[in-house]
Amino acid sequence: MERELALEFARVTEAAALAAARWVGRGNKDAADDAAVTAMRVMFDTVAIDGVVVIGEGELDEAPMLYIGEKVGLGVSPQVDIAVDPLEGTNIVAKGLNGAIAVLASAPRGTLLHAPDMYMDKIAVGPQCKGRVFLDAPVKENLRQVAKALDKALGEVTVVILDRERHQGIIEEVRRTGARIKLISDGDVSPGVATAYPDSGVDILMGIGGAPEGVITAAAMKCLEGDFQARLMPDNEEEIRRCHEMGILDTKQLFSIDELVKTDDVIFVATGITDSFLLKGVRYMEGRAITQTIVMRSKSGTIRFVEANHHLGKKPLFRDNRIQLQID
Ligand code: FBP
Repeated sequence: MERELALEFARVTEAAALAAARWVGRGNKDAADDAAVTAMRVMFDTVAIDGVVVIGEGELDEAPMLYIGEKVGLGVSPQVDIAVDPLEGTNIVAKGLNGAIAVLASAPRGTLLHAPDMYMDKIAVGPQCKGRVFLDAPVKENLRQVAKALDKALGEVTVVILDRERHQGIIEEVRRTGARIKLISDGDVSPGVATAYPDSGVDILMGIGGAPEGVITAAAMKCLEGDFQARLMPDNEEEIRRCHEMGILDTKQLFSIDELVKTDDVIFVATGITDSFLLKGVRYMEGRAITQTIVMRSKSGTIRFVEANHHLGKKPLFRDNRIQLQID
């Protein structure tokens, strides 16, 4: 993956974040998502790739844009897989809460797992804990290992878990160990990635969330040399059939990070929409908007934080009502 692409992709997630940010707190998650998807889709047309969406907004019949299998980019080499979540945290934006990002990952064609849109059991940790935690190990043992690797007392370890009824069991197990928990309402990509940052305040992500978000988190963890393990959780015959259609024959398979992202050449880019564990959200002042974007490339190991100050009046994407930035 050419390194210049990383900055091109940053422009794509910036556009999605700028479009979604206008909908913060307006109670309309679908409008926020539509804005992010449209902006991301338009910006992809300027990028010199022959891309195929492998993680996207859904199947062709469910999503008008950025559907799985859709071609994106100018149609020139390199041939790449694209995983997108133009608005990770639709409810977060609708309610004006923390934790929404616009995110994408890209890697050479055929290297990102084609994950169906269903639940996935996940565990994410930073580089110091790599090789010490296992999805199938008891919660207590994993947390003990994390504490040891990070040279912390168990009571200083912080676990991020989606606040869902299905996680009552895990939550109780974690509490019995004495570890701390941050329950999140939505958006498990950013805290998952943040476990690789020692000063993020979170050490491990556990629990069941979306499979597409899982593959995207795994791409980030490849760049950060952290770890991510997962198992799909098909709930019925129909979901099992969808796994089979996507080439996943063993639906109980435990996926290692290298099976989710089968390359050491992946780019991960995310822009903050609202403040999160990872990034600052979009801020406005005097006709401008400031975005913060993380850009990572596993091949070089470089991690960049790009702060951009956008002159909204000069953005072709947002002029001529292509994407509505002003909401009347
Ligand atoms: P959106 O698709 O509405 O942005 O939600 C994202 C998300 O919160 C993910 O971060 C998470 O993996 C998943 O949804 C959890 O699903 P559920 O809300 O069904 O528990």
